[in-house]
Amino acid sequence: MSNRLRIALTKGRLQDKSVELFERAGLDCSPIKDPGRRLVHSLPNYPLDAVLSKAPDVITYVEHGICDLGIVGKDTIMEQGGSFFEVLDLQFGKCRFALAVKDGSNFYGTYKTRTIASKYPGVTKAFFAAKGMDVDIIKIEGSVELAPILGLADAIVDIVETGATLKANGLIPIETVAPISARLIVNTASMKLYKNEILDFISKCEQFIEG
Ligand code: PRP
Repeated sequence: MSNRLRIALTKGRLQDKSVELFERAGLDCSPIKDPGRRLVHSLPNYPLDAVLSKAPDVITYVEHGICDLGIVGKDTIMEQGGSFFEVLDLQFGKCRFALAVKDGSNFYGTYKTRTIASKYPGVTKAFFAAKGMDVDIIKIEGSVELAPILGLADAIVDIVETGATLKANGLIPIETVAPISARLIVNTASMKLYKNEILDFISKCEQFIEG
């Protein structure tokens, strides 16, 4: 009998997209689709238990070997880092990190140190370090678009999907920092211990990736 694997899913939109992928692959996901307040669910027709958690915690559970697998956005992976295998680009949850400024402002046309607001200070720091540019970074928890409007920052590094939020707030993207999509990650020890089970699961997912 094969070992049951445990997977951490990012709650919300990535959870829904993960379920769609699993269902295309023939996995019965009815327990996850009607979860109530329950956070751990056993799939009835495949040896997999699904744990629903916040994106940064997906990485924490996988790194500590509590979960063998995880589905999490590249945005969280880039910001948080960690020690695990990133095995598949699942091609959903697609968006990008972009540098955005107030429409009409000349971001690169000054020598003064620029201030950047972001929910992702690590990504922002790495982006400007690669350019050899010294910037001040202010961590913001949400609605980052407010920062340049209110004069807290010269620019933001944030997630852009449709661009509607930037546009509605008079901001324009001037550079793509990195593309983002959901990734399947695997605990390094699990990969050795449950190699057959994990490879079976990866190949099941791989066959049904869309886009
Ligand atoms: C994200 C992001 C932008 C928005 C981008 O915010 O931070 O604000 O979505 O989407 P769009 O390009 O399609 O308009 P989220 O809704 O996650 O909330 P937050 O601002 O609190 O982070």
